[in-house]
Amino acid sequence: MILLDGKAAAASIRAETALEVEKLNGRTGRKPGLAVILVGDDAPSHTYVRNKERACAETGIRSETLRLPAGASQDEVLNRIRALNKRPDIDGILLQLPLPNHMDSRPCLECIDPAKDVDGFHPMNMGRLLQNIPGLRPCTPSGVMELLKRYGLNPAGKRAVVAGRSNIVGRPLSVMLSAKSAWGNATVTLCHSATPEVATLFREADFLFLAMGRPEFVRGEMVKKGAVVVDIGISVTEKGLRGDADFASVSEVASALSPVPGGIGPMTIAMLLRNTIQAFEARL
Ligand code: GUN
Repeated sequence: MILLDGKAAAASIRAETALEVEKLNGRTGRKPGLAVILVGDDAPSHTYVRNKERACAETGIRSETLRLPAGASQDEVLNRIRALNKRPDIDGILLQLPLPNHMDSRPCLECIDPAKDVDGFHPMNMGRLLQNIPGLRPCTPSGVMELLKRYGLNPAGKRAVVAGRSNIVGRPLSVMLSAKSAWGNATVTLCHSATPEVATLFREADFLFLAMGRPEFVRGEMVKKGAVVVDIGISVTEKGLRGDADFASVSEVASALSPVPGGIGPMTIAMLLRNTIQAFEARL
């Protein structure tokens, strides 16, 4: 079984990114700038944002984080986004999700200038993804595709099953996998909480992508022998962080498996750095 080591792949992407930032700085006299908006006290969000800050510092991307209290108004968030849209030194804007319950994330995401939308969540960028037009792509599904590429695992012509239909992971990933592109061309089934008998579908998958957020739900007997399993689930349990796959039993059956932690998580942040550079270059 091949362990899909996202931690190592992300470290080499960060090294590539640092070189790229230096080159851009030499050419333009400026380094890419990322602004993160974090509202409220969601503990995992605070961890993600700290990791993003550390990755920016390591690669020379300028980053600033705006921390707003849980009681902040939606208008305040919108006004902060409008101000960042106007700033020439800010290339990327990331609104950390989830927002507190009294806010609606949709108008906030739509307020971000699509050219600075490094999460790729603006409907303009989602539409570009759907139509296979270049644009900023969501970081987690991009990280999945990049990890597959680095291990030479091509889903083209294969049966892919994606479990989970979130706007952040499952749905955009299903679009990338089915796209007419070098690392797409898979036959994709998108299943979700209303799908009956998911195990039957899982067992048909040559490539199985898990983005359900149900810790250790998928056991070895639900996986086809030799399948590539990418675990994108991440849940905080009393035993620690767990993915959607039961690692011990799935690793007996799969030909490749990404661990949690150390799989897709670090890749997501590496793709955020890449998107920030892409946004910077597009704004030159
Ligand atoms: N919350 C969980 N994942 C993500 C992500 O990729 N981007 C943002 N902005 N918020 C998230």
